[in-house]
Amino acid sequence: MIYLDAAATSFLKPPCVAQAVVDAMHTVGSPGRGAHPLTLAASRTVWACREAVAELLGATDPARVCFTPNSTVALNTAICGLYGPGDHVITTALEHNSVLRPLYRLEGLELTILPADEMGNIDYGDFARALRPNTRGVVCTHASNVTGNTLDLKCIGNFCRAHGLTFVVDASQSAGVLDVNQQAVGASVVCFTGHKGLLGPQGTGGLSVAPDVTLRPLVVGGSGVHSYDRRHPQDLPEGLEAGTLNAHGLAGLLAGITYIQEQGRENLYRQEMELARAFVEGVRSLPGVTLYGDVDAPHRTAVVSLNLGEEDAGAVADVLAQEFGICTRAGAHCAPLIHEALGTSARGAVRFSFSHLNTPQEVAQAVAAVSELTRRLSPI
Ligand code: ALA
Repeated sequence: MIYLDAAATSFLKPPCVAQAVVDAMHTVGSPGRGAHPLTLAASRTVWACREAVAELLGATDPARVCFTPNSTVALNTAICGLYGPGDHVITTALEHNSVLRPLYRLEGLELTILPADEMGNIDYGDFARALRPNTRGVVCTHASNVTGNTLDLKCIGNFCRAHGLTFVVDASQSAGVLDVNQQAVGASVVCFTGHKGLLGPQGTGGLSVAPDVTLRPLVVGGSGVHSYDRRHPQDLPEGLEAGTLNAHGLAGLLAGITYIQEQGRENLYRQEMELARAFVEGVRSLPGVTLYGDVDAPHRTAVVSLNLGEEDAGAVADVLAQEFGICTRAGAHCAPLIHEALGTSARGAVRFSFSHLNTPQEVAQAVAAVSELTRRLSPI
């Protein structure tokens, strides 16, 4: 199998991640619940993971890194915790449904969705044009999971700062890969998942909350502290964490982040971008290949989406998997608006997404497979 679906989950992981999960299952109890050696070991593991996340994301305070099962829960917590009826929020057409659906669902919320052009890029001047007296915030992704195009967080953060707006960043596709730097970009909340660029297990993720930001919790319940209080504690991190944390998964996430720090995030990013660029160069001039997104942009992620002739993207991905052993993701990728912008709503696109753990040989095999399919176009 050639795994080219890193944007969905980093199936290729350094061995230390699985080892850390197994070790934790034999050595830690329930984090933050009691004070015997096994629970203290769990609490220390979770705290070390908070510190690692805070350092990697440029957050001010590990105690304000709150863990959730994934970035969807983190984004729901941020969006529902900040905005309500009568508020106006600005977002973009690059967003995943984990941003769009919580925003759509908030009753009485006014929403402006900045359009993307046919390359999948936005016009930053649209932010100012979208401002209203009741504008409260911007929620946007750092990198599109369909095109790999990135948004300029610094620019958007400056806009938010100038207009007193909260700024929620969906770093699902960028944490562990790009420089997020919450403090430098002035993000109120950065939401992340553990199982993609951070190389951790599924079931891990969270949100880093800036010091001046208060969120209403989405879920309340057991916190391990103030048990006689009818209200959930407000102090972070417990304020946004109800129920037993996934300490086993967080041990794996800690191992993944430690590996990234040891190897150097920028090194790993450079390696995966070299693979992605080699793939682009290999397929871009093949007859019948349509590439989507700003594939030559200097700042982007190692995600390449394409279609072949008039073929259905799902059918192409099936042939790639069954005949060539190449794992890609086809369809709409839970990001409907960017497909509208690209003109791919009807058939989606085939997404190849690369990891530094892929090899140049695998890229060459993927190029050869696409080349073979273009020769067979209509019907595959
Ligand atoms: N959101 C993930 C993807 O893009 C699962 O595939």
